[in-house]
Amino acid sequence: MIVMGIESSCDETAVALIERGENNRVLDEQIKSQIPLHAIYGGVVPEIASRSHYETIDYLAKEALQKTGLTVKDIDLVSFTRGPGLIGSLLVGLSFAKGLSYTHKIPLVGVDHIYAHIESAFIDNPGIEYPLIALVVSGGHTTLFYLPNKFEARVVAKTRDDAVGEIMDKIAKFFGLGYPGGPILDKLHPGGDPRRYSFTKPRMSDGSNDFSFSGYKTAVIRHPEAANMDTDSRDFTDLVASFMHSVTDYMLAKTLEGVEEYGVKSVLVAGGVSRNTLLREKFSRTFDGDKVKLYLPKPRYCTDNASMVAWLGYETHQAYPERDYFDYSLNSYSRAGFRDKGKFR
Ligand code: KG4
Ligand code: ZN
Repeated sequence: MIVMGIESSCDETAVALIERGENNRVLDEQIKSQIPLHAIYGGVVPEIASRSHYETIDYLAKEALQKTGLTVKDIDLVSFTRGPGLIGSLLVGLSFAKGLSYTHKIPLVGVDHIYAHIESAFIDNPGIEYPLIALVVSGGHTTLFYLPNKFEARVVAKTRDDAVGEIMDKIAKFFGLGYPGGPILDKLHPGGDPRRYSFTKPRMSDGSNDFSFSGYKTAVIRHPEAANMDTDSRDFTDLVASFMHSVTDYMLAKTLEGVEEYGVKSVLVAGGVSRNTLLREKFSRTFDGDKVKLYLPKPRYCTDNASMVAWLGYETHQAYPERDYFDYSLNSYSRAGFRDKGKFR
């Protein structure tokens, strides 16, 4: 079966063609990152994002078809990101997918973006065993899930304020380092001393298990010594290294708690921040495969992409073939999103 995946929830426009069934592989993926368009603003500007999706999506679809030597007639299923994301951006992907489905009579499926991030780990690891713990860390989300099976996900902990990628982006913006901040801080910290500055790990006063990251952001940008630091200095590199180690240890500790509480077989980390070198090292060292196996998507499947959307679309269509997404609207997503039911649907 050939599946076309369409991703347009934030600042990446992407179209992928995958083959599922007897062969399971990504045939081609075309991604247009909008980072250069948003970089001067230090963050994603929603109107610019939706306009850029609109201008590029059909071109990317044509390119993917051309690269694979396929035609629209070869597509057996269209899968699009139905949310969460920027409403104008989501609308572009949804409208394009519906147009394709209606004109060429191709079945249509809409998938949850966060769950697609979880699914991204399965692209190269079909044998991941349930139950599992999944940590989704990106610019918009930081959530720890417990999944007893493929289509059930319980939120174990979620951020009460900023997402972890968001604070990295904000810290880098504050110090004038550029956008997005995550990859910049990733490259900057290795020379620094992680023990030079200490950060208090957040704890919820109401005893809840949730994450909180905004305190980290304030502690870095309002650090008493930071005001006089040159970003090229050793002091600044030490500050970034201390922050990166502390925030990674915090996510690791919460994941370990989840693993122990739920007695899972597998752990996976997904989303843009799972590209982070330090996070990958620390998690790999901790989950060395003895009792619990760790799965990390390939770097290109960590950040937003359409292969994960196509992969999950196929799984959803196999499990629920009767589902028809043609009448689907973004309005119905906000009413029936997985958060209400504790299920990805
Ligand atoms: O998953 P994603 O592409 O988009 C969302 O769904 O949010 O994640 C983007 C986030 C940004 O905050 C970016 O700074 C972060 O992922 N990111 C990284 C790295 N690469 C991207 N954070 C830390 N280290 C990286 N290497
Ligand atoms: Zn994402």
